[in-house]
Amino acid sequence: MNVIEWTSDFALGIDEIDEQHRVLVSMINALDARTHGDPGPERTRRLLAQLSDYVRDHFGLEERLMGGGGCSPDLIARHFAAHAHFRSVLRELTIDFEKGRRDVTRPLIAYLVDWFLHHIVVVDRAMTHQLDAAEPDLAGRLATVRLQHLADELPEAERRLLAERLSQEQAARRAAN
Ligand SMILES: [Fe+2]
Repeated sequence: MNVIEWTSDFALGIDEIDEQHRVLVSMINALDARTHGDPGPERTRRLLAQLSDYVRDHFGLEERLMGGGGCSPDLIARHFAAHAHFRSVLRELTIDFEKGRRDVTRPLIAYLVDWFLHHIVVVDRAMTHQLDAAEPDLAGRLATVRLQHLADELPEAERRLLAERLSQEQAARRAAN
């Protein structure tokens, strides 16, 4: 039996974020299924690495979306603090695991389930409502955020050009709304 079943109640209406949240549900269920047998250190190491990649991409996307404006300073502060807490829990469990602690998966699952039920249902939903109210068509902003993500890989000069272009597009979108 899965520890969390995805239902439409969890959907926030931003496809890319919903898809990433579904991936997190699969990871939690996979992690839980493995702890019923002995996951073994290599599998646990891979899952911790997978979670860390996930967190970088997923939190990065949400933080960039909020960085584009539309969310209250209070929500942004709360949301960034929650992401920072998640990152520190994951980092500490990974360090403990590398130091030889082997029972990291159970506390990790408990944390992830609690995270999913509180953070995604409450905090991410509040973010989505505020973003929607500020910019009903989020497709343009998502496109910008995706490009910013790609820009991280570019050399400095090209990154600057792209940043200029993106801020012009952002300004044009705001003027049109
Ligand atoms: Fe979030």
